[in-house]
Amino acid sequence: MLSQLPPSLIGPVEGRKPLHEWRGLMIDSARTCFSVSTIELFIDLAHRYGFNRLHWHLTDDAGWRFDVPDYPRLTEVAAYRPRSRFDNYTNEAGETIERAAQEAPSKWTAGYYTDSEIQHLIAYAADRGIEILPEVDIPGHMMAAIEAYPQFGRPNSAPLPKHSMRDDQRWPAQNDLLWPTDEALEFVLTAVDRIIDLFPGSTIHVGGDECAYDQWATDPDIDKWLKLRGLKSVPEIQTWFLDAVADRVRARGRRVAGWDEICQITDDPNILMFAWDEERGMNRIAQSINPYVYADARSLYLNRIDPDAPQQQKGMIPGISVADILSTPWPEAEDSRCIGVQACLWSEFILDEADLLDMAFPRLLAVSERMFNPQAADNVERVEAEYEVLTRALKTRQ
Ligand code: ACM
Repeated sequence: MLSQLPPSLIGPVEGRKPLHEWRGLMIDSARTCFSVSTIELFIDLAHRYGFNRLHWHLTDDAGWRFDVPDYPRLTEVAAYRPRSRFDNYTNEAGETIERAAQEAPSKWTAGYYTDSEIQHLIAYAADRGIEILPEVDIPGHMMAAIEAYPQFGRPNSAPLPKHSMRDDQRWPAQNDLLWPTDEALEFVLTAVDRIIDLFPGSTIHVGGDECAYDQWATDPDIDKWLKLRGLKSVPEIQTWFLDAVADRVRARGRRVAGWDEICQITDDPNILMFAWDEERGMNRIAQSINPYVYADARSLYLNRIDPDAPQQQKGMIPGISVADILSTPWPEAEDSRCIGVQACLWSEFILDEADLLDMAFPRLLAVSERMFNPQAADNVERVEAEYEVLTRALKTRQ
């Protein structure tokens, strides 16, 4: 379908060089298990607009999306969690909550990607100059895996606080962290090995965001756990997981990537950090010496609503407009550690392909425009013109 479109008005047309080595897009299949054809379309669009990395978020509280043969309950149980509630965030566009909550049950997606579907998508992306960066989020955001294998989470001996995953599916959860047991470590190493077997790319993303330490800290047996692992403080439990997983990734010849929280718990200067967490994230990055990708939620989280959209979108606030994207300073010019940028589309409120396209465009065109033509005087006009071409083409397709 996209091959029938005229040449893009933005992006990598002849004579324009990208400013960044890393031009990423993140898609969240853990919350919405998009079909293979939707991901193909997303890859086609990423290609048309000059992106060269697809960050594929494959595990989270909401679901687990690939097969690990030694752990069959991941695809039997963790891949089939019902869609989570919509009233559990503090930063959502108020009027849209009800709409999302109404639509969600009928748009519940579940399941996982088979090995051959994954291989197909890797090849599909590679044919278009795009490398897939797979993510297994460790050691937090593990509710789905813990539902399938409760022994990896909070020990049964510890009482589950109110709002635990057994009561509902809210985040912050009270049981979404792996426990520092031999079993949990073996599990994540096996999962990471599996990802390395499946994905040939240069880099493996091991998550590390939003690790709610109080779950470990409030365990009555926490001193025992720390002593067992020779650790002095609770955050070192995250380091314990990260070091083991990172060693495995490196031993198998790949680069380690993680979210910016990891800056605080590792002194490995080679881990590629993803700076997402606004000012806090940039402060963590500033205190590190690591290379990083700029994915700041303030201007690159396209799951936040577009205030200029003709219809009120389901999503998070504060909103981000095309003008915001075109004008917000990015650090790449001053900071040689910044190897590129990445737009992220988290799927809490993105329930299907239509939502995905609605949230992505036209703002992704503005991200592309920034990557290739940061100073152009006619940015806005070009984004608008390309958006018209694209909208017509997508309508004909549906
Ligand atoms: C993130 O948005 N929690 C990386």
